[in-house]
Amino acid sequence: MGMRIIGWGTALPEKIVTNADLEKTLDTSDEWIVERSGIHQRHIGDSTAEIAVAAGRNALALAGIAPASIDLMILATTTPDQSIPATSAHVHHELGLGGGAFDVNAACSGFVYSLVMANGLLGSGAKRILVIGAETLSNVTDWSDRKTAILFGDGGGALVLESVPDEGQLLSWDLGLDGSAREILRADHGGFIQMDGREVFKRAVRVLVDSATRALEQAKVRPDQIKLLVPHQANIRIIRAACDRLGIGHERVALVLHRTGNTSSASIPLALVDAIDHDRLEPNDLVLLTGFGAGMTWGSALIRWQDGPSPMPGAGASVDRRTDLDEREDDD
Ligand code: ACO
Repeated sequence: MGMRIIGWGTALPEKIVTNADLEKTLDTSDEWIVERSGIHQRHIGDSTAEIAVAAGRNALALAGIAPASIDLMILATTTPDQSIPATSAHVHHELGLGGGAFDVNAACSGFVYSLVMANGLLGSGAKRILVIGAETLSNVTDWSDRKTAILFGDGGGALVLESVPDEGQLLSWDLGLDGSAREILRADHGGFIQMDGREVFKRAVRVLVDSATRALEQAKVRPDQIKLLVPHQANIRIIRAACDRLGIGHERVALVLHRTGNTSSASIPLALVDAIDHDRLEPNDLVLLTGFGAGMTWGSALIRWQDGPSPMPGAGASVDRRTDLDEREDDD
């Protein structure tokens, strides 16, 4: 038993904050932000539940299934709307889902953690699971701190998964955590994100590469066999360094960072759906999702792509038409 992806969708708040907007309130520049992070703009607004509902609704519509036929919904978020109850309760109600629902907080690795968990549950009785990653990092960002305000944004992405009798699309995975590094990236209750950027950067490259390598080795797949790498969208320099160490060419990377900023657990589904919407995947292509985040957590999942339903107009995020990392780098 395994999983098959039968629907996908994304949601981004309407309001766009560009680097030029940030220049007005912070001692920073578009040039510095683009050079150091690769980010040009980010979307800000709405609640985590609103974003999750919109992404989930798009994914369910594309799958063409009734919301009540969902057995379980997993919401990956590090920015829940309240401490109690879980934001998934709100989302479950708004979407009219069947079964249960719960939140997962594994920071930016949350979507991969949720996907791996869903795959296991689909192998032990669940028929359909909706996995959503949704965040409002703007609520935990200190907009007067130039070291963090330039990086984060809001957004969401979702996949509808169905149980299949064969191995399914998830070929291998790797999840991990180093809690001794929990202080380098954190937000206290009611507080803002505090980050040792250089330390996060250094560790991020290492854990991304190690985790991706473990997932590949488990499935006996070589890096050159990967059609698409879908990394957590935190910083273009982290992504480039990880690609170079893994031996994966920049043209094989899914990238939305330049227009979304870092959206934590939403970033991998946002980038994956963008690649699907741009027809970058064909049946049997190997896709490697890999992320890292506060904790410090990491997670990788190797997927064999299968034909899903044709994307309906408007089901994914609105996108520009550039498709690879190098073309986007030309803009930097
Ligand atoms: N504009 C202009 N100058 C700035 C800015 C800014 N926005 N921010 C910092 N600077 C200055 C610093 O004050 C410093 O000046 P100094 O040399 O006079 O002291 C100089 O620029 C260099 O600062 P660094 O912090 O060394 O810059 P760095 O090249 O490391 O880039 C960045 C900073 C972009 C934050 C980088 O370290 C990074 O991306 N780290 C990883 C962050 C990350 O991935 N976080 C998310 C993890 S997952 C999750 O969030 C949930």
